[in-house]
Amino acid sequence: MADSPVLGDYFVIRALENGVQLIGLTRGPETRFHHAEKLDRDEVMIAQFTEHTSAMKIRGKAIVYTKFGAINTSEREP
Ligand code: TRP
Repeated sequence: MADSPVLGDYFVIRALENGVQLIGLTRGPETRFHHAEKLDRDEVMIAQFTEHTSAMKIRGKAIVYTKFGAINTSEREP
């Protein structure tokens, strides 16, 4: 991982409704949007963080699967 970002873990986003937005944010001193992707219901995106993308913002109802578990954006913790 130290020398190649493409060896990083994958994560999966599954849209639970139409029009879910995935927004990639840049790595480095300036944190800005550089990529937007729209997923419709049941569409899945498999992605990694890269040397260009350090964070991601998700708008809408989706399940995000990571090695830390699955996060449903529309469910509150009890
Ligand atoms: N071209 C982008 C990159 O290599 C694509 C990308 C990779 C991306 N992972 C992402 C975009 C996660 C949004 C979210 O960094």
